[in-house]
Amino acid sequence: MKEGIVETISWNVSISEANHSVVTEFIFLGLSNSQELQIFLFLFFFVFYVGIVLGNLLIVITVASDLHLHSPMYFLLANLSLIDLSLSSVTAPKMIADFFRTRKVISFKGCLAQIFLLHLFGGSELVILIAMAFDRYTAICKPLRYTTIMCGNVCVGIVAAAWGIGFLHSVSQLAFAVNLPFCGPNEVDSFYCDLPRVIKLACTDTYRVDIMVIANSGVLTVCSFVLLIISYTIILMTIQRHPLDRSSKAFSTLTAHITVVLLFFGPCIFIYAWPFPVKSLDKFLAVFYSVVTPLLNPIIYTLRNKDMKTAMRRLGKWNRNSGITS
Ligand SMILES: *[C@@H]1O[C@H](CO)[C@@H](O)[C@H](O)[C@H]1NC(C)=O
Repeated sequence: MKEGIVETISWNVSISEANHSVVTEFIFLGLSNSQELQIFLFLFFFVFYVGIVLGNLLIVITVASDLHLHSPMYFLLANLSLIDLSLSSVTAPKMIADFFRTRKVISFKGCLAQIFLLHLFGGSELVILIAMAFDRYTAICKPLRYTTIMCGNVCVGIVAAAWGIGFLHSVSQLAFAVNLPFCGPNEVDSFYCDLPRVIKLACTDTYRVDIMVIANSGVLTVCSFVLLIISYTIILMTIQRHPLDRSSKAFSTLTAHITVVLLFFGPCIFIYAWPFPVKSLDKFLAVFYSVVTPLLNPIIYTLRNKDMKTAMRRLGKWNRNSGITS
């Protein structure tokens, strides 16, 4: 009886060992092999990443320090900036450090961590974008009920829901990738790990897992995108029907929101929901998604937004003044 149990246990252990991937690390092929190009790409992405960090931190600091910007829209914007910064920090620093390495290695666990964090931040960003659309919808289409609908608790709830949904989405995606056997090729033709590319390397029939990724990430992005387009269309139609005196300001805020939505969802839909991947375009979109979009968000919001610009000027003045007095 006892021996039987021991036998079963050791049998289980050997099964799980056999299941355990032979692959302990993945190798990124990176963006290009050319040595001269590496230096150029390094500088290019380094500057972009510094811009991402500074730009997004500036938004967070400006919103936090300026009382005029203590409203749901700017709280959500600051949260979006924080998420953008985190999202690009998952991939960009490693990519930049890898430019001068001939062997761009990432451990199996590191790869899973990248996938987890990408989907955690990506999922949260998606919820924040929807919340920002809802906020604008309420402000423009239901202006009298705005303050009752978007009260402080709701805003905190939205942010909590964003992280919760991001976490659930990420865990439900990773659950399928963790158990895949990896035994053969370990070269990822990219500069970071993400599901569609890593799944391809598994030495098993991945048809079902592919479907799961499309059903989860793909459907989620496409549905949210359609929802956002519908809500912004309704908002734009409302503005046209009732030209308020502040409609030009509302309009420029809206175009900024819509641009950010298109920038975020364009690459996302192509990566997760497009059934016919085009190799070179895929890589380009990955670059776009990890360094261009997170930099464009702060630029779009600050350039298109008078209140933001005024607040930043005030922040600068305050800093100079406090520098003189201290
Ligand atoms: C995110 O939103 C919450 C809820 O409105 C707010 O309290 C918090 O300050 C925001 N975070 C940042 C970094 O602005």
